Amino acid sequence: MRLLAIETSCDETSAAVLDGAGDEVVLRSLVILSQDVHAIFGGVVPEMASRAHLTAIVPVVERALMDAGGHGFDGVAVTNGPGLVGALLVGVSYAKALAFARGVPVVGVHHMEGHLFATALEHRGAVPPFTALLVSGGHTLLLDVERWGRYRLLGRTRDDAAGEAFDKVAKLLGLPYPGGPHIERLAAVSHSGGFHFARPMLRRDQTPDRPDFYDFSFSGLKTAVLKAVHASPNLDGDRGAIARAFQDALVDTLVAKTERAARQFTRRRVVLGGGVACNATLVAAMRERFDGRGVEVFAPSPRLATDNAAMIARAGLFHLERGERSALDLSAFATQPLPGLVAA
Ligand code: KG4
Ligand code: ZN
Repeated sequence: MRLLAIETSCDETSAAVLDGAGDEVVLRSLVILSQDVHAIFGGVVPEMASRAHLTAIVPVVERALMDAGGHGFDGVAVTNGPGLVGALLVGVSYAKALAFARGVPVVGVHHMEGHLFATALEHRGAVPPFTALLVSGGHTLLLDVERWGRYRLLGRTRDDAAGEAFDKVAKLLGLPYPGGPHIERLAAVSHSGGFHFARPMLRRDQTPDRPDFYDFSFSGLKTAVLKAVHASPNLDGDRGAIARAFQDALVDTLVAKTERAARQFTRRRVVLGGGVACNATLVAAMRERFDGRGVEVFAPSPRLATDNAAMIARAGLFHLERGERSALDLSAFATQPLPGLVAA
Protein backbone atom coordinates (compact mmCIF):
# COMPACT_ATOMS: atom_id res chain seq x y z
CA MET A 1 0.00 0.00 0.00
CA ARG A 2 1.22 3.52 -0.79
CA LEU A 3 0.15 6.10 1.73
CA LEU A 4 0.23 9.89 1.54
CA ALA A 5 0.32 11.58 4.94
CA ILE A 6 -0.20 15.18 6.01
CA GLU A 7 0.70 16.86 9.32
CA THR A 8 -0.27 20.47 10.16
CA SER A 9 -1.02 20.36 13.90
CA CYS A 10 1.35 23.14 14.94
CA ASP A 11 4.04 25.10 13.11
CA GLU A 12 5.34 22.55 10.60
CA THR A 13 3.66 21.90 7.26
CA SER A 14 4.66 18.36 6.40
CA ALA A 15 3.82 15.65 3.87
CA ALA A 16 5.25 12.16 3.38
CA VAL A 17 4.83 9.12 1.17
CA LEU A 18 5.24 5.66 2.69
CA ASP A 19 5.14 2.24 0.97
CA GLY A 20 4.69 -1.09 2.65
CA ALA A 21 2.70 -3.32 4.96
CA GLY A 22 2.89 -4.05 8.69
CA ASP A 23 6.34 -3.25 10.10
CA GLU A 24 7.92 -3.65 6.63
CA VAL A 25 7.80 -0.12 5.29
CA VAL A 26 9.89 2.18 3.13
CA LEU A 27 9.72 5.95 3.49
CA ARG A 28 9.71 7.30 -0.07
CA SER A 29 9.65 10.99 0.73
CA LEU A 30 9.36 13.46 3.57
CA VAL A 31 8.96 17.21 3.25
CA ILE A 32 8.91 19.44 6.35
CA LEU A 33 8.43 23.18 6.05
CA SER A 34 9.03 24.91 9.39
CA GLN A 35 7.32 28.23 9.99
CA ASP A 36 10.10 30.37 11.41
CA VAL A 37 7.88 33.47 11.64
CA HIS A 38 6.91 32.47 15.21
CA ALA A 39 10.47 32.97 16.50
CA ILE A 40 9.86 36.74 16.38
CA PHE A 41 6.96 36.38 18.82
CA GLY A 42 8.60 33.88 21.17
CA GLY A 43 5.90 31.24 20.60
CA VAL A 44 3.47 29.92 18.01
CA VAL A 45 0.79 32.45 16.96
CA PRO A 46 -2.19 30.23 15.98
CA GLU A 47 -3.72 32.52 13.35
CA MET A 48 -0.36 32.97 11.61
CA ALA A 49 0.22 29.22 11.72
CA SER A 50 -3.10 28.52 9.97
CA ARG A 51 -2.39 31.08 7.26
CA ALA A 52 1.12 29.75 6.67
CA HIS A 53 -0.25 26.18 6.35
CA LEU A 54 -2.75 27.44 3.76
CA THR A 55 0.04 28.88 1.63
CA ALA A 56 2.32 25.87 2.04
CA ILE A 57 0.03 22.84 1.92
CA VAL A 58 -0.30 22.48 -1.88
CA PRO A 59 3.41 22.81 -2.77
CA VAL A 60 4.50 20.69 0.21
CA VAL A 61 2.19 17.81 -0.78
CA GLU A 62 3.14 18.18 -4.46
CA ARG A 63 6.81 18.04 -3.56
CA ALA A 64 6.38 14.93 -1.40
CA LEU A 65 4.54 13.15 -4.24
CA MET A 66 7.16 14.24 -6.79
CA ASP A 67 10.03 13.07 -4.55
CA ALA A 68 8.26 9.70 -4.21
CA GLY A 69 8.26 9.40 -8.00
CA GLY A 70 4.58 9.64 -8.82
CA HIS A 71 1.19 11.02 -8.04
CA GLY A 72 -0.51 7.73 -7.18
CA PHE A 73 -1.46 6.63 -3.67
CA ASP A 74 -3.87 4.16 -2.11
CA GLY A 75 -4.86 6.09 0.98
CA VAL A 76 -4.39 9.32 2.93
CA ALA A 77 -3.51 9.71 6.62
CA VAL A 78 -3.85 13.06 8.33
CA THR A 79 -3.31 14.41 11.84
CA ASN A 80 -6.72 15.50 13.14
CA GLY A 81 -5.74 16.22 16.75
CA PRO A 82 -4.59 17.21 19.25
CA GLY A 83 -3.18 20.55 18.14
CA LEU A 84 -4.19 24.03 17.01
CA VAL A 85 -7.65 23.63 15.50
CA GLY A 86 -7.17 26.19 12.74
CA ALA A 87 -3.85 24.63 11.77
CA LEU A 88 -5.22 21.07 11.88
CA LEU A 89 -8.22 22.04 9.76
CA VAL A 90 -5.99 23.02 6.83
CA GLY A 91 -4.44 19.54 6.69
CA VAL A 92 -7.71 17.73 7.40
CA SER A 93 -9.65 19.61 4.71
CA TYR A 94 -6.94 19.11 2.11
CA ALA A 95 -6.56 15.42 2.97
CA LYS A 96 -10.30 14.80 2.71
CA ALA A 97 -10.54 16.65 -0.61
CA LEU A 98 -7.61 14.66 -2.06
CA ALA A 99 -9.02 11.34 -0.85
CA PHE A 100 -12.48 12.15 -2.21
CA ALA A 101 -11.11 13.26 -5.58
CA ARG A 102 -8.98 10.10 -5.94
CA GLY A 103 -11.58 7.73 -4.51
CA VAL A 104 -9.19 6.41 -1.81
CA PRO A 105 -9.77 6.07 1.96
CA VAL A 106 -8.72 8.72 4.48
CA VAL A 107 -7.89 8.09 8.12
CA GLY A 108 -7.47 10.60 10.95
CA VAL A 109 -4.39 10.04 13.14
CA HIS A 110 -3.76 11.13 16.74
CA HIS A 111 -0.63 13.29 16.74
CA MET A 112 0.92 11.54 19.76
CA GLU A 113 0.29 8.10 18.31
CA GLY A 114 2.32 9.38 15.36
CA HIS A 115 5.23 10.22 17.71
CA LEU A 116 4.93 6.71 19.14
CA PHE A 117 5.46 5.15 15.70
CA ALA A 118 8.23 7.54 14.53
CA THR A 119 11.21 5.62 15.92
CA ALA A 120 10.10 2.37 14.22
CA LEU A 121 10.68 4.09 10.86
CA GLU A 122 14.43 4.06 11.57
CA HIS A 123 14.96 1.24 14.04
CA ARG A 124 13.58 -2.20 13.31
CA GLY A 125 13.81 -3.05 17.00
CA ALA A 126 11.59 -0.16 18.11
CA VAL A 127 8.44 -2.27 17.98
CA PRO A 128 6.21 -3.50 20.84
CA PRO A 129 6.37 -4.57 23.53
CA PHE A 130 8.16 -1.51 24.92
CA THR A 131 8.07 1.31 27.42
CA ALA A 132 7.48 4.65 25.69
CA LEU A 133 8.35 8.14 26.80
CA LEU A 134 6.78 10.79 24.55
CA VAL A 135 8.08 14.26 25.28
CA SER A 136 6.93 17.11 23.06
CA GLY A 137 6.02 20.77 23.32
CA GLY A 138 2.45 19.98 24.33
CA HIS A 139 2.59 16.52 25.93
CA THR A 140 4.55 14.33 28.30
CA LEU A 141 3.33 10.74 28.27
CA LEU A 142 4.75 7.60 29.83
CA LEU A 143 3.17 4.52 28.26
CA ASP A 144 3.43 0.78 28.37
CA VAL A 145 2.95 -0.49 24.83
CA GLU A 146 2.02 -4.16 24.73
CA ARG A 147 1.35 -4.05 21.00
CA TRP A 148 0.52 -1.39 18.42
CA GLY A 149 -2.94 -0.05 19.18
CA ARG A 150 -2.93 -1.13 22.82
CA TYR A 151 -1.56 1.51 25.18
CA ARG A 152 -1.48 1.66 28.96
CA LEU A 153 -1.13 5.27 30.08
CA LEU A 154 1.09 5.17 33.17
CA GLY A 155 1.95 8.81 33.67
CA ARG A 156 1.49 12.25 32.22
CA THR A 157 2.35 15.79 33.17
CA ARG A 158 0.05 17.51 35.59
CA ASP A 159 0.96 20.96 34.27
CA ASP A 160 3.64 21.95 31.75
CA ALA A 161 4.93 19.50 29.15
CA ALA A 162 8.67 18.77 29.08
CA GLY A 163 9.19 20.74 25.85
CA GLU A 164 7.06 23.58 27.20
CA ALA A 165 9.31 23.69 30.28
CA PHE A 166 12.38 23.96 28.01
CA ASP A 167 10.71 26.75 26.03
CA LYS A 168 9.55 28.71 29.08
CA VAL A 169 12.88 28.39 30.88
CA ALA A 170 14.66 29.49 27.69
CA LYS A 171 12.46 32.59 27.67
CA LEU A 172 13.35 33.32 31.32
CA LEU A 173 17.02 33.04 30.38
CA GLY A 174 16.60 35.33 27.38
CA LEU A 175 17.14 32.57 24.81
CA PRO A 176 15.21 32.34 21.50
CA TYR A 177 12.15 30.16 20.74
CA PRO A 178 11.99 27.17 20.51
CA GLY A 179 14.18 26.96 23.57
CA GLY A 180 15.06 23.26 23.80
CA PRO A 181 18.01 23.24 21.40
CA HIS A 182 19.39 26.51 22.85
CA ILE A 183 19.28 25.21 26.42
CA GLU A 184 20.89 21.95 25.34
CA ARG A 185 23.75 23.75 23.58
CA LEU A 186 24.35 26.07 26.53
CA ALA A 187 24.12 23.27 29.10
CA ALA A 188 26.62 21.16 27.15
CA VAL A 189 29.38 23.71 27.73
CA SER A 190 28.42 24.67 31.29
CA HIS A 191 28.64 23.33 34.82
CA SER A 192 25.74 23.71 37.20
CA GLY A 193 28.01 25.56 39.61
CA GLY A 194 26.14 26.45 42.77
CA PHE A 195 22.73 25.81 41.21
CA HIS A 196 20.66 22.77 42.05
CA PHE A 197 16.95 22.26 41.44
CA ALA A 198 14.84 19.62 43.18
CA ARG A 199 13.75 16.71 40.96
CA PRO A 200 9.99 17.34 40.58
CA MET A 201 7.55 14.62 41.71
CA LEU A 202 10.43 12.26 42.36
CA ARG A 203 10.70 10.74 45.79
CA ARG A 204 11.89 7.35 46.99
CA ASP A 205 8.74 6.70 49.04
CA GLN A 206 6.46 6.75 45.98
CA THR A 207 4.79 3.43 45.23
CA PRO A 208 3.42 2.05 41.92
CA ASP A 209 -0.18 2.05 43.14
CA ARG A 210 -0.11 5.86 43.37
CA PRO A 211 -0.35 8.15 40.33
CA ASP A 212 2.61 10.29 41.45
CA PHE A 213 4.85 7.26 40.93
CA TYR A 214 4.72 7.86 37.17
CA ASP A 215 3.26 11.37 36.78
CA PHE A 216 5.33 14.45 35.98
CA SER A 217 5.11 18.10 37.00
CA PHE A 218 7.39 20.78 35.62
CA SER A 219 5.80 24.08 36.60
CA GLY A 220 7.48 24.07 40.05
CA LEU A 221 10.85 23.57 38.37
CA LYS A 222 10.08 26.52 36.11
CA THR A 223 9.26 28.66 39.17
CA ALA A 224 12.52 27.57 40.83
CA VAL A 225 14.39 28.73 37.72
CA LEU A 226 12.48 32.03 37.78
CA LYS A 227 13.55 32.60 41.39
CA ALA A 228 17.17 31.77 40.54
CA VAL A 229 17.05 34.22 37.63
CA HIS A 230 15.63 36.98 39.83
CA ALA A 231 18.17 36.30 42.57
CA SER A 232 21.12 36.31 40.19
CA PRO A 233 23.19 39.49 40.37
CA ASN A 234 24.75 38.63 37.00
CA LEU A 235 22.50 36.62 34.69
CA ASP A 236 25.01 36.74 31.83
CA GLY A 237 27.48 34.94 34.10
CA ASP A 238 24.93 32.50 35.53
CA ARG A 239 22.88 31.68 32.41
CA GLY A 240 24.84 28.56 31.46
CA ALA A 241 24.90 27.16 35.00
CA ILE A 242 21.14 27.67 35.42
CA ALA A 243 20.43 26.06 32.03
CA ARG A 244 22.60 23.10 32.99
CA ALA A 245 21.02 22.69 36.45
CA PHE A 246 17.52 22.90 34.93
CA GLN A 247 18.27 20.33 32.23
CA ASP A 248 19.91 18.00 34.79
CA ALA A 249 16.79 18.09 36.99
CA LEU A 250 14.40 17.54 34.09
CA VAL A 251 16.44 14.74 32.49
CA ASP A 252 16.92 12.98 35.84
CA THR A 253 13.16 12.94 36.40
CA LEU A 254 12.35 11.65 32.90
CA VAL A 255 14.96 8.90 33.18
CA ALA A 256 13.91 7.83 36.69
CA LYS A 257 10.21 7.53 35.81
CA THR A 258 10.95 5.68 32.57
CA GLU A 259 13.15 3.28 34.50
CA ARG A 260 10.31 2.63 36.97
CA ALA A 261 7.92 1.82 34.10
CA ALA A 262 10.35 -0.49 32.28
CA ARG A 263 11.14 -2.35 35.49
CA GLN A 264 7.52 -2.66 36.59
CA PHE A 265 6.46 -4.16 33.25
CA THR A 266 9.76 -6.01 32.66
CA ARG A 267 10.19 -4.45 29.23
CA ARG A 268 13.49 -4.87 27.41
CA ARG A 269 13.01 -1.91 25.09
CA VAL A 270 12.50 1.77 25.73
CA VAL A 271 11.30 3.98 22.88
CA LEU A 272 11.60 7.77 23.00
CA GLY A 273 9.58 10.17 20.88
CA GLY A 274 8.63 13.84 20.48
CA GLY A 275 10.77 16.95 20.01
CA VAL A 276 12.53 16.68 23.38
CA ALA A 277 13.87 13.28 22.24
CA CYS A 278 16.24 15.39 20.05
CA ASN A 279 18.06 16.15 23.30
CA ALA A 280 21.26 14.11 23.14
CA THR A 281 21.85 14.53 26.88
CA LEU A 282 18.48 12.92 27.62
CA VAL A 283 19.14 10.04 25.22
CA ALA A 284 22.66 9.46 26.64
CA ALA A 285 21.37 9.56 30.25
CA MET A 286 18.63 7.09 29.37
CA ARG A 287 21.16 4.71 27.72
CA GLU A 288 23.52 5.04 30.67
CA ARG A 289 20.76 4.18 33.17
CA PHE A 290 19.81 1.00 31.31
CA ASP A 291 23.36 0.04 30.40
CA GLY A 292 24.19 -3.56 31.32
CA ARG A 293 20.58 -4.43 32.15
CA GLY A 294 19.61 -5.91 28.80
CA VAL A 295 17.29 -2.98 28.03
CA GLU A 296 17.78 -1.27 24.68
CA VAL A 297 16.95 2.41 24.27
CA PHE A 298 15.69 3.63 20.88
CA ALA A 299 15.54 7.31 19.94
CA PRO A 300 14.49 8.85 16.63
CA SER A 301 16.82 11.14 14.68
CA PRO A 302 15.90 14.84 15.09
CA ARG A 303 14.05 14.95 11.75
CA LEU A 304 11.67 12.21 12.90
CA ALA A 305 11.58 13.27 16.57
CA THR A 306 10.04 16.67 15.85
CA ASP A 307 6.74 17.05 14.04
CA ASN A 308 6.70 15.33 10.65
CA ALA A 309 4.26 13.53 8.36
CA ALA A 310 6.31 10.30 8.11
CA MET A 311 5.24 9.28 11.61
CA ILE A 312 1.62 10.05 10.73
CA ALA A 313 1.96 7.83 7.64
CA ARG A 314 3.32 4.99 9.77
CA ALA A 315 0.52 5.23 12.36
CA GLY A 316 -2.07 5.76 9.60
CA LEU A 317 -0.91 2.61 7.81
CA PHE A 318 -1.53 0.63 10.99
CA HIS A 319 -5.09 1.92 11.23
CA LEU A 320 -5.90 1.52 7.52
CA GLU A 321 -4.58 -2.04 7.60
CA ARG A 322 -6.99 -2.74 10.43
CA GLY A 323 -9.80 -1.62 8.13
CA GLU A 324 -10.37 1.69 9.86
CA ARG A 325 -11.65 4.55 7.73
CA SER A 326 -12.65 8.10 8.58
CA ALA A 327 -15.81 9.51 7.05
CA LEU A 328 -15.71 12.71 5.04
CA ASP A 329 -17.09 14.58 8.04
CA LEU A 330 -13.76 13.94 9.82
CA SER A 331 -13.10 16.98 12.00
CA ALA A 332 -10.15 18.53 13.87
CA PHE A 333 -9.84 18.53 17.67
CA ALA A 334 -7.70 20.65 19.99
CA THR A 335 -7.70 17.84 22.54
CA GLN A 336 -8.36 14.20 21.92
CA PRO A 337 -7.75 11.02 23.95
CA LEU A 338 -5.09 8.67 22.61
CA PRO A 339 -6.83 5.77 20.82
CA GLY A 340 -6.30 2.25 22.10
CA LEU A 341 -5.97 3.15 25.77
CA VAL A 342 -6.50 0.29 28.20
CA ALA A 343 -7.22 0.75 31.89
CA ALA A 344 -4.10 1.10 34.01
O1 KG4 B 1 7.17 17.18 18.99
P1 KG4 B 1 7.45 18.61 18.69
O2 KG4 B 1 8.19 18.94 17.42
O3 KG4 B 1 6.13 19.44 18.62
C1 KG4 B 1 5.03 19.20 19.45
O4 KG4 B 1 4.25 18.27 19.15
O5 KG4 B 1 4.94 19.93 20.47
O6 KG4 B 1 8.24 19.19 19.95
C2 KG4 B 1 8.65 20.53 20.04
C3 KG4 B 1 9.34 20.72 21.38
C4 KG4 B 1 9.67 22.17 21.71
O7 KG4 B 1 9.20 22.44 23.00
C5 KG4 B 1 11.19 22.22 21.65
O8 KG4 B 1 11.77 23.16 22.53
C6 KG4 B 1 11.56 20.80 22.04
O9 KG4 B 1 10.60 20.00 21.39
N1 KG4 B 1 12.91 20.45 21.61
C7 KG4 B 1 13.92 20.17 22.47
C8 KG4 B 1 15.07 19.95 21.67
N2 KG4 B 1 14.73 20.08 20.37
C9 KG4 B 1 13.39 20.38 20.34
N3 KG4 B 1 13.95 20.11 23.81
C10 KG4 B 1 15.12 19.81 24.39
N4 KG4 B 1 16.27 19.61 23.72
C11 KG4 B 1 16.31 19.67 22.36
N5 KG4 B 1 17.44 19.46 21.70
ZN1 ZN C 1 4.57 16.74 18.11
